[in-house]
Formats: sequence, structure tokens, C-alpha cells
Amino acid sequence: MCGIVAYIGKKEAYPILMKGLERLEYRGYDSAGVALMQSDTITLYKKRGKVSELEDYCEQRDTSGHAGIAHTRWATHGEPNEQNAHPHLSEDHRIALIHNGIIENYLSLKKELLNRGYKFLSETDTEVLVHLINEMQQKNNVSLEEAVLLALANVEGTYALAILSVDNPDQLILAKKGSPLLIGVGDDDFFVGSDGAPIVEYTNKVVYLDDGDVAVVSPDKGLRIRNIRDEHALLKKPNYQLLEMTLEQIEKGGFETYMLKEIYEQPKSIRDSMRGRINLQKDIVSLGGLIEYEHKMVNAKRFIIAACGTSWHAGLVAEYLIESLVRIPVEVEYASEFRYRNPIIYSDDVLIAISQSGETADTLAAVDLAKRHGATVIGICNVVGSTLARETMAGSYTHAGPEIGVASTKAFTAQVTVLTLMALSLAQKKGSISKSKYHQLVNDLESIPEKIERIFTQEEHIQKIAQFVATRPNAIFLGRGINYPVALEGALKLKEISYIHAEGYPAAEMKHGPIALIDDHMPIIAIATEQLTYDKVVSNIQEVIARKGTVISIVTEGDTTVKGMSKFCIEIPVTEELLTPLVAAVPLQLLAYHVALIRGCDVDKPRNLAKSVSVE
Ligand code: G6P
Repeated sequence: MCGIVAYIGKKEAYPILMKGLERLEYRGYDSAGVALMQSDTITLYKKRGKVSELEDYCEQRDTSGHAGIAHTRWATHGEPNEQNAHPHLSEDHRIALIHNGIIENYLSLKKELLNRGYKFLSETDTEVLVHLINEMQQKNNVSLEEAVLLALANVEGTYALAILSVDNPDQLILAKKGSPLLIGVGDDDFFVGSDGAPIVEYTNKVVYLDDGDVAVVSPDKGLRIRNIRDEHALLKKPNYQLLEMTLEQIEKGGFETYMLKEIYEQPKSIRDSMRGRINLQKDIVSLGGLIEYEHKMVNAKRFIIAACGTSWHAGLVAEYLIESLVRIPVEVEYASEFRYRNPIIYSDDVLIAISQSGETADTLAAVDLAKRHGATVIGICNVVGSTLARETMAGSYTHAGPEIGVASTKAFTAQVTVLTLMALSLAQKKGSISKSKYHQLVNDLESIPEKIERIFTQEEHIQKIAQFVATRPNAIFLGRGINYPVALEGALKLKEISYIHAEGYPAAEMKHGPIALIDDHMPIIAIATEQLTYDKVVSNIQEVIARKGTVISIVTEGDTTVKGMSKFCIEIPVTEELLTPLVAAVPLQLLAYHVALIRGCDVDKPRNLAKSVSVE
């Protein structure tokens, strides 16, 4: 949700900033802007729309300079136009600032600044920051760093900031609270990013800023960090870490789009998520990061899973896995609802927060709430060093590698893989699973990557089905049991990237409303694999056919009954019922992908969305 890049050093800043923005564009693409330090002035270029539009605009303009800040925006306050695009300038044009987050008390701050004669050019919450810092500096006659510290003491909300100033052309000021920001340390320069993608090409030595940190980077004077929560504002020792990311991971690798690359990476990301967690004899599943808390988890009265979007769907799959294998009750919560409804949380509850990015504001708020109630808080997350990874007591990484396509694919199957391993490991410790069932599931889990590879051979067939779906304005996805969340995820993928209205439903619920929508225009995508409720799903499909709906089914290889009733059918390899989501999700991802391509949509950057939702 908004991407931040900054550079200061001996190199030309502009190409580094633009490449960085392209790599952060998944965080928002409503507008883009760049501010460059050119001798004793700040030069500013901003454009509505994607980064490529800013680049076209800058092509014939002076983009020289060795220090700069750049921003790609996902609009929160004010429509996506050039006035509202970042960077924002102080009235005297001596300070430029970019921001990711939300300033919650911006209205009262703005009122006060207006009363004191400041003029605002944008409708953003961000602009108050630049005026406030400017005012603090002039009023108190202090350095920019001091002015930032003073200004931030008046600010409520979340922010990652990068600030450039004409008066200190040899330094950048950075600040973080609630939104991610990391500094890459080069030989004689500094690279700043909302994540590692703009940095990895130049250095793998990084410092993740903590909440409350205000950092000053200067090629001559190095890096200094202070924290606004420290009343003495003492200097902090930077915690240098190795950036766990490679350039290859964030490039398209010959694929047309990131989303297709990431769909095809799933056999590998599932293997990587299992690697080292199932021992050679297959008699122990163990997640290293959870060992210390296993006892608490096995003895928990209840699990609460908090997540958003696709991660919430992975949480729903986990509910079936944990309840069925570990026999401990699970509640799955939208993190955004959980945080505001004064939930009952006991100290013997275990909250599992699931997040690909590890930066989703609502999920982080749920973590904070559970910690304050004394619950054990576990994180399942994909981004090493993210806020979730740092704020939870223990956890497990999903090892899916960077996911750049805004619609989540490989992160979902990696999350389900890790949650399956977690359920197996806890069931084993608790003694709630028989040896034979345990071995059956472990063996089948290890065969999932190869099963997904077999689904890829049907891509052309899925393309044909997509031709049909692409002409329809609506679609209904049906599933039962552990495949109900897969139906939700299939519908989410289709609406996110193709803008076709889609709903996911538990198949039996269709009678209680959605059946009224069925006519000969409505495609029904039904997951009807071999499972306990197979016969019931068959009856639900018959109800659709009786109303002239068109059935597209996902069935187990060799099925003839449902296949015979369907206009189109996708067969998936025989899989243990509890593991079918890992396989059944894949053809639905491919279906949504091809429908979106046919409809001419930008699959990697669907309209209005952002990948990392670091604001509420
Ligand atoms: C956004 C993304 C989704 C993602 C959700 C949760 O809405 O577009 O793809 O599932 O956020 O993100 P998280 O990083 O917490 O998994």
C-alpha cells in the first residue's frame, strides 16, 4: 500500500529510483512521483497512473542528481491525481517528503496549520507532515532531524517516511511507525525501500527500521538511528541483517506476467515450504520455529485464526485441518472485524495470524490485541523480517519466495502447506491421529507438487473454458467441506483480476438464496472431488442443471457422474480429501488468469487493488 524508494550516494539516483518504483508497483499504482536533489533545488515530477507514465513524462526532462525520493501511490485520502501524488513539498520548496500509511489526526493538524496561514495544495493526509516539519524547523531553529522528531511527536497514525531537504543535500531522513521501511547499506551509498525489492540488486546488507525509529543516512557520515519512544533520544546501534531475497526471484523469468510465473512456481514453493520439516523416515513433522510453543499449542483451549483476503481463505482451510486432526476448536476471524468487536480472548488461546506480506495493518492489530490479552501469538508469513514475523512470539515462514502479482496464488498454497504440517505435527504430539492416517497424509502431501504439475498440462483446456466464462457477467463457485474455502478463493481470484462479479458458496447453501440467480447465462463452477459429501454435491449440481445453469466442474480423475452433467470439466489427480485444496485451487487460478487475459485486464496490477494493505 504505497511504495517508497530513496537513494543517496555517488550514483545517478533517477534510474535506481525508477527501477525501484517498478518493483514496488504491486503496492499501489494510482500515481507516481519523484523528487531529485539538483544543486540547491529540489526538482519534482509527478504523474497520475502507473510508473511507466511517469517515466515517459520524465524522458525529455532533467533527471540528474545523486539523491532522491520516489513514491508509487495507492490512494487513501484524495483522488488519484497529480496534486495528491507524492512527493509533497513544503511551501518554500526546501523539503520534499513521501509517505506510506495514514495520519489519523491529520484533520485537526490541518486545521491548526491552516489557521497559522499554511496553504494546502492536495487533499492528502501526508501534506500536513511536510508543513509541520517545516514549521518545527523554523520555529525552533533546529536541524531537520530534530524538526522531524518534534513534528512526529504530534502525529497519530502510521507512517514510513523519506525526506529530502535543500538545506541538507547530503542526507536523507527516514522514519517508521506501523508501515515497513528498510535501509540497504552500500559501500558509499544508501538504498531505501518499503521492502527489499528495490535494494537487492545493489546490496544485501540491510537494516529493518523499528517502529518509532528516525534514521539519518549520509554517504559521508553513515547511518544514525534514534527512536522517538526513547525519552533521551539516544543513538541506537543499527542491527545489520542479510537480505534474504535474490534478483532472480523478483524477475519474470520468461513468463508474460508475474501471476503466471507464480502459479507455475507452486510445485517448487510447496516443496520449499515442506523442506526440512518432514524427517527422512517420515515419522516426524516438525516446524522449527514453533517447537518452543508446541506444548502451549497442543494444550490450547481454542485456536483463533486472524487474517485478510486470500490468507483468510487459507485460515478457513486450516480450520478444517486443525479441527479434524488435532480436535481443538478453531475460530477464523477477519482481522479487520476481530480488532474492533471487543472479542473474548483467553490466556490459553492461541492466535494464529496468517499474512503473505506480514504487513497487513488489520492482521497486525489483531496480533497486538491478542498479545495484550495474554494469548500465545503465532505468525505464518512469507516475508522474512516483516513486521508480523517480528511482532509474533513464534512462527513459521512459508518459503514461497517473493509474490509480486497482486492476486495471491503461490502464497495461498504455501500457507495451506505450512498449516497442514502444523496440524500434522500437533496431532502427532497430541496423539489425536492414527499412525496409518498420519503416514497416508504425509505421503500424499509430498506428492502434491507432482500432482500440480499434471494440472499444468491442462492449461489449453482451461483456456477454452475461460473463453466461455469471459463472456459472462457473473459466476458462482460452489464447494463443500474443506473445498468450500477453495470456492471462495476461486471466486475472489476471478473478481480480483477479471472484474467479473463472482460469489463463492457452500454448495448446500445455494438453496437459501443464490439459486434465484441461476438461469441459462449463469456459469456455476463446482468443486466435486471425491469426498465425504460427494453425493450431496452431485444433488446440488442437479439442482443447477434443472434451472438451466451451466456447470463447469472440478472432479477427481476418472469421475464420470459429474463429468457427464458438466458443460466443461477439469480433472484433478486423486488426493486425500484434507489435501484437495492444494490441488483444486490451481485450475481455478488458471481459469481466472485466462479469463482476465481474454478480457484485456492487467492481471498483475488489477484496478483499485494493492498487494500489501498496510492501512486499515
Ligand atoms: C490484499 C491482497 C490480497 C491478500 C490480502 C492479505 O488484499 O490483494 O492478495 O490476500 O491483502 O494480505 P496478506 O499480505 O496479509 O496475506
